[in-house]
Amino acid sequence: LRHLTTLENLSRSTIERLLDRAVALRDACAHGTRKIDMLSGRTVLNLFFEPSTRTRTSFELAARRLGADVVNFDIGFSSANKGEELYDTLHTLEAMHLDAIVVRHKESGTPDELVRHAMSGVSVINAGDGNRAHPTQGLLDLLTIRQHRPDFENLSVVICGDVKHSRVARSDVHALAAMGVPDIRLCGPAALMPETAEFPQCRFFDDFDRAIEGVDAVIMLRLQKERMAQTELPDEAAYFRQFGLDTRRLALARKGCLVMHPGPINRGIEIAPDVADGAQSRILEQVGNGVFTRMAVLSELLAR
Ligand code: CP
Repeated sequence: LRHLTTLENLSRSTIERLLDRAVALRDACAHGTRKIDMLSGRTVLNLFFEPSTRTRTSFELAARRLGADVVNFDIGFSSANKGEELYDTLHTLEAMHLDAIVVRHKESGTPDELVRHAMSGVSVINAGDGNRAHPTQGLLDLLTIRQHRPDFENLSVVICGDVKHSRVARSDVHALAAMGVPDIRLCGPAALMPETAEFPQCRFFDDFDRAIEGVDAVIMLRLQKERMAQTELPDEAAYFRQFGLDTRRLALARKGCLVMHPGPINRGIEIAPDVADGAQSRILEQVGNGVFTRMAVLSELLAR
């Protein structure tokens, strides 16, 4: 791999190689290795045009643990505010000799545009573009599921919430489908669901009680208010009643069903606090896996 902008069309063997690499790095860190100097002398730029807690921090930790130098570009204090265009900013930063750009942007397709404009030798990693893709989130979600339910051929997964605006849902579906998961369900209010033609590999539901029945994992999504038209905004109390995950609904899933959420979570809107913090919650495990997954991606792309 040279770049990672989407999981679409990534083969099962490539995905498995990345997950195995993440596990090997996690094992190395668990045995006390704080730093693995695979990327010493390399420079990674975090270029985030949208807010982030988990992705940006874990990419920084991942790069530092591999011995790379990291630059966190601060858009708020940059010359982008003086009218500098994206590609002028890109070429300016590249002139300082970068090896990888980790980019998050509100416009779908920006990472691929950077691939087209970037100097040869620079790897581009998508940290989330519009509603299109969040490939490292898809990989870390898959890693979290594999830890508990490695038998992908017999898995049922439901993704519930604002699927229409979710880049996480898209990357999760691409990852699950590549691994041969036979039962991928999407659930949400009609106004927040994508066209069925976009997801021929999924079953669509508008009744969460039915959608969650017997599943091995439930992935809850945040309402992406920043990507919604005013008319799409649901009433939050009514939304929670219909599409929120509480203990009653969780009991309809298979025993021990994994509770997942990419974060940030909105308690009482898409997930009840006692479920988010409960014994079946894997939400913080997802966060931890994010560091090792991003170490795996950076080392795959950059190690000589
Ligand atoms: N899951 C995720 O992308 O979280 P952040 O927006 O905090 O990076």
